[in-house]
Amino acid sequence: VEPAPGRRDMGGAVVGRETGVRPRRLRRTPGLRAMVRETRLSSEQLIYPIFVQPAGVALQPVESMPGVMRWPVDRVDEPAGEALETGVGAVLLFGIPPAKDARGSGADDPEGVVQQAVRRLKARWPELVVVTDVCLCEYTEHGHCGILRERRGTMEVDNDKTLERLAATAVSHAEAGADIVAPSSMMDDQVRAIRQALDAAGWEDVAVMAYSAKFASAFYGPFREAAGSAPAFGDRRAYQMDPANAREALREVALDVAQGADIVMVKPALAYLDVVRAVREAMALPVAAYNVSGEYAMVEAAARQGWIDRRAVVLESLTAMARAGADLIITYHAVEAARWLREG
Ligand code: PBG
Repeated sequence: VEPAPGRRDMGGAVVGRETGVRPRRLRRTPGLRAMVRETRLSSEQLIYPIFVQPAGVALQPVESMPGVMRWPVDRVDEPAGEALETGVGAVLLFGIPPAKDARGSGADDPEGVVQQAVRRLKARWPELVVVTDVCLCEYTEHGHCGILRERRGTMEVDNDKTLERLAATAVSHAEAGADIVAPSSMMDDQVRAIRQALDAAGWEDVAVMAYSAKFASAFYGPFREAAGSAPAFGDRRAYQMDPANAREALREVALDVAQGADIVMVKPALAYLDVVRAVREAMALPVAAYNVSGEYAMVEAAARQGWIDRRAVVLESLTAMARAGADLIITYHAVEAARWLREG
């Protein structure tokens, strides 16, 4: 008896000819292809990261990320307005403070760059979804994601001291008007600490998008140039995840869900689509994938050489992230991709 032609153990030209199965029939025209497309990208699922620096500082391009700028607070309406106009779902704000210190004081300063930017954007466009990155690395002089202490003769990030700083930062972002706070420091218990602090301050309706499975990745290089946040010594492997670990990613995600995360994230995206898929299958809440700075830089570099078709590669990559199971995609290409999707 012939097995049914749709089964996974089937395939091959001979069987196809015998059964009359010809997958090419549904690929023949654009209309047919559109009709059976399994994954559809939409601009609302894209999140646009914006780097904000103090007002009055000149607009600065990020060298390793062509097309990406550091925006002075008084001009943050420009990129955010583009996001709104093209139908991008949300903006994600990163702060580049005027000064850095050991405890990252700029992070929870009510007059900090991110707090100012959120207030400004929400005053102009209350409907704009504003997400804020909650971490200390952009604000500490040593560039680590938390408060340091000496242990066994070496410096390390003090997990529980850092939690207080992250919680205060999240509350200050909520007070400024953020819809979603996104803790990215990979401290144990960071979601619980932030959730409890938000609730205690009356911000029970502010959501948490947790950078749950954030890997210690070399793909963050250009971001660290943009934010001046490269660690002054050592690396982040004692808090960010080992790129070799997928089961551990599920554990991190489960912990964040238990602690009250509303959205979980996998980061980076392209090299970690297996993790995105695994998280999607294990969890019911929205999953975000962060298409990080190094992924952006690689596309831009190859496109500049004329080695790849930029638009096609960007849309193919974003589609792959959605196909793997990402409901939300954070990408520096968000505004452009939204324009392309609109053009069709
Ligand atoms: C802050 C943070 C980083 C990124 C997002 N949030 C940098 C890091 O962990 O070193 C990276 C984003 C990117 O590379 O696009 N901790």
